[in-house]
Amino acid sequence: MISLSSQLPCDIKRIFQLGPPNLITPHPFSSGTVPIQMAGKVISSGIRYNTLPESYVRPVTDRPNLSLVSDCNDVPVIDFGIDDRRLISQQIGDACRRFGFFQVINHGVPDEIVEKMQEIGREFFQLPVEEKMKLYSEDPSKTMRLSTSFNVQKEQVHNWRDYLRLHCYPLDQYTPEWPSNPSSFKEYVGNYCREVRELGMRVLEFISESLGLEKEVIKNILGDQGQHMAINHYPVCPEPELTYGLPGHTDPNALTILLQDALVSGLQVLKDGQWLAVRPHPNAFVINIGDQLEAVSNGEYKSVWHRAVVNSDKPRMSIASFLCPCNDSIISAPQELTEKDGSKPVFKKFTYAEYYKKFWSRNLDQKDHCLEFFKN
Ligand code: OGA
Ligand code: NI
Repeated sequence: MISLSSQLPCDIKRIFQLGPPNLITPHPFSSGTVPIQMAGKVISSGIRYNTLPESYVRPVTDRPNLSLVSDCNDVPVIDFGIDDRRLISQQIGDACRRFGFFQVINHGVPDEIVEKMQEIGREFFQLPVEEKMKLYSEDPSKTMRLSTSFNVQKEQVHNWRDYLRLHCYPLDQYTPEWPSNPSSFKEYVGNYCREVRELGMRVLEFISESLGLEKEVIKNILGDQGQHMAINHYPVCPEPELTYGLPGHTDPNALTILLQDALVSGLQVLKDGQWLAVRPHPNAFVINIGDQLEAVSNGEYKSVWHRAVVNSDKPRMSIASFLCPCNDSIISAPQELTEKDGSKPVFKKFTYAEYYKKFWSRNLDQKDHCLEFFKN
């Protein structure tokens, strides 16, 4: 076996002395043409670690305690293929009140489109690190970027995740800036985005009805919604007990449509103070209520706390599509809800732009929840 240090350009050796001292194999494609300071920023660089770098290690009081997590056996699985709108919206209402999330099957997004999306996501993260690093940025205001962890500029401890974040609506506006490598990326991802948006709109109509509102009411409040995507890649982690892929959080947008890795689990949700694992369900999407729907429902539906944990066996990919209110939409619950049974408006009126700015100015696992700042 050749010793590692004899294989690496001296630049790399120097940086590794400062940074992770514990890698075992360099990436076969790493020719060293990207400054290693850059390549070392993502964890999908092909480097395998045998211990977790210090900057990812959580304090003892903030670790996933994986052995205490049980499976969530009663995750609502809602069949969109049935012909009974009232039943679907009733099931959605129950799920939103009890869990803040649910899964949908027979959702109408063709299998082939989903498979191609997954295939191209994997291909992207398998590209040489030099190629990926052309897209790297830590600036949350960029509409297309490869990044890592969550908010590297704000956080104290990093998360074991790389992600490609794209704006997806209107497609014509954003596809030109998307990656053109792999060559089918724009086509496959564009097709997926269109389908997922349609599904999201149907879900919002059901949610509206489940709250006793006309089906268009919530969509109208949210305005011409933006759509973002995060292709999350969680590489194999040497010490999954010490870190997160993503720590517990709620999503700041309105609705999230998550495509889990079919084979590798990692999503957990908080229910009654317990973290529960949501195993991937074949051909299902996971739907999360985000902060904006909590506000629009006057707190009747809670945006769900969830997190992603990592494992030492297999890399995991998840694809999150976020529907986000139009920037200048005024987020507020309709009167039917704020005056129901003598209730009062729980939240102040705010624009989504105000909320989003606040959200990204903070760290994901800060104690006070971002919505707290907007409460009456
Ligand atoms: C997210 C998220 C969960 C997962 O991207 O906001 O919560 O399973 N992802 O990757
Ligand atoms: Ni999330």
